[in-house]
Amino acid sequence: MRGRSQQRRTGPVLVTGASAGLGLETALYLAEQDLPVYATVRDDAARSDVLRAAADRNVALRVLRLDLTDPASIDQAVRTVLDEAGEIYALVNNGGVGLRGCLEDLSDDEIRHLFETNVLGTLAVTRAVLPHMRAAGRGRVVTISSVGGRISSFGVGAYCATKFAQEGLGEALALELAPFGIRSVLIEPGMIKTTRWTTNRATSAGALDPRSPYREMFLAAEELADRIVGRSRTRPVDVAKAVQRAITAERPRMRYVVGRPASVVIRMRRFLPEPLFERVYFGPFLRRLERARTNGAPPPAGERRAGARGGV
Ligand SMILES: NC(=O)c1ccc[n+]([C@@H]2O[C@H](COP(=O)([O-])OP(=O)(O)OC[C@H]3O[C@@H](n4cnc5c(N)ncnc54)[C@H](OP(=O)(O)O)[C@@H]3O)[C@@H](O)[C@H]2O)c1
Repeated sequence: MRGRSQQRRTGPVLVTGASAGLGLETALYLAEQDLPVYATVRDDAARSDVLRAAADRNVALRVLRLDLTDPASIDQAVRTVLDEAGEIYALVNNGGVGLRGCLEDLSDDEIRHLFETNVLGTLAVTRAVLPHMRAAGRGRVVTISSVGGRISSFGVGAYCATKFAQEGLGEALALELAPFGIRSVLIEPGMIKTTRWTTNRATSAGALDPRSPYREMFLAAEELADRIVGRSRTRPVDVAKAVQRAITAERPRMRYVVGRPASVVIRMRRFLPEPLFERVYFGPFLRRLERARTNGAPPPAGERRAGARGGV
């Protein structure tokens, strides 16, 4: 618990996609730090689960409905926070969907839903809160991007494109908002075990179609992803702590990478010459996929750790 001084420096926090995963942990963790939290859920049915999780952690928070694809629900949630709390100090753009499958296997509807949620939805909530933050002369827009917003990967190109979009928007916002005392911060987690990897996995039907020319490679990549996420030591609370820093630091950085594998891979990209990065990072992964495509053989033990899977 940080006590009243932090509350004075900060203020109400609105978290999107707080029914599960990183959003739920962030909402609970921030509430534990005595921040007034508005946890928003896409589906009202999740409200009781969030309240139960809060009671289990002995914290109080408000739960509102906010569906990123429903503009009326965005306006309503923002209005409710302003009516009740008088201000939105921080917005945590966390809610979003995945989409797994190679580009040719995806349907237009799947791609549209992905972009409507992750890009247009995130933009809509941000645009709804900004006039109030500007009027207050302070605020934080914290967006849960991904390592997949810096380095793309096989079978998740459309998803990574939405994360690259969030990166571009978040960076521009940092410049546009600084003169008004508002900070835009991007959080870039690596792979973390959440419902994203089970019930919310969002695998495209086309990716599993036996007629797909990508199917064997996709399954090999998925198997590798599952192995890496199963081993991941990065936890949802690590993201929550990075969000807390973004909200409470006097001068937050523009980006926080979460998890060691994620920072290693981002550093590799930053410091290695591009051809070398391609060779050491993408090379083993490509060889593995080619083997899966031609005969489905398992990789030699030495290559089990390699692969273009820093995290999404
Ligand atoms: N877990 C990882 O490995 C990882 C790594 C890097 C970045 N990220 C990013 O971190 C964020 C959270 O991921 P997560 O792992 O916690 O995923 P998750 O377990 O699938 O949770 C996603 C949350 O977003 C909500 N959501 C989905 N569609 C929505 C909509 N239309 N309106 C409002 N909320 C919506 C979900 O609600 P419902 O369940 O009700 O649909 C859920 O609460 C995402 O932006 C993701 O891209 C995750």
